[in-house]
Amino acid sequence: MKNVQEKKKLALIIYYTFSNQTAKLVHHMRKGLREEGINVETVKLLPDERLSFPLHSIQRTVAMMLKTFFRKRVRIRPVDGSPIETADLLVLAGPTWSYNPSGPVLYFLDQYGELLSNKNVLPVISCRKYWRSHFRYLEKKISSRGGTCLEPIVCTHNVSEPWSTIGTFMTIAGINPRHHAFMRKHYPRYGHSPVQLAQIKEKARDIARSFV
Ligand SMILES: Cc1cc2nc3c(=O)[nH]c(=O)nc-3n(C[C@H](O)[C@H](O)[C@H](O)COP(=O)(O)O)c2cc1C
Repeated sequence: MKNVQEKKKLALIIYYTFSNQTAKLVHHMRKGLREEGINVETVKLLPDERLSFPLHSIQRTVAMMLKTFFRKRVRIRPVDGSPIETADLLVLAGPTWSYNPSGPVLYFLDQYGELLSNKNVLPVISCRKYWRSHFRYLEKKISSRGGTCLEPIVCTHNVSEPWSTIGTFMTIAGINPRHHAFMRKHYPRYGHSPVQLAQIKEKARDIARSFV
């Protein structure tokens, strides 16, 4: 009997990461999807301007938080749209910046949003804790471009408040919280834990199984 091989589905992960947390989520998503037989390609959004982590300044950190609160776009280098057209699933991943999607993701949506038409878009959000208005914005933007926004995968920092806010601010400003005795007790790490990353991989496997 002829062995008819079905063409593998393609997931395209488009992402931006500032402090490498989304990159970790993407790495584990990719592993999970591939383990279930999905082809995965990734596109990293690269800002045109220099934007390096950490900012090494409290003033620069405050300024960035203010600008991002008003959804300042960050221009990115051109993106090749052809893999977007052929993908069966688009994953759009990035951090929350002042309750919004990050500047590079906003810019991507402005410039390339029409490519999302008739696509299933899975948002993946890396944040300290506050992701809902970020997600609502994505949902509105994706559906206005004719795409379908799926239930997001959200990964928060697993630290209680106010330590999470203080620790994140310090880390972005370039001050290591763990070098300060009062923080060391309450702030085990910046970002996502290995357990959370393993859970992300399992979620990706579940998604892959429901989509083959
Ligand atoms: C300018 C700026 C603003 C941020 N605002 C928020 C916020 O409103 N809510 C939140 O939960 N996290 C916020 N964060 C924290 C990031 O979302 C979080 O550290 C995320 O894991 C970073 O992902 P990345 O390493 O991929 O950039 C902010 C970070 C930055 C740099």
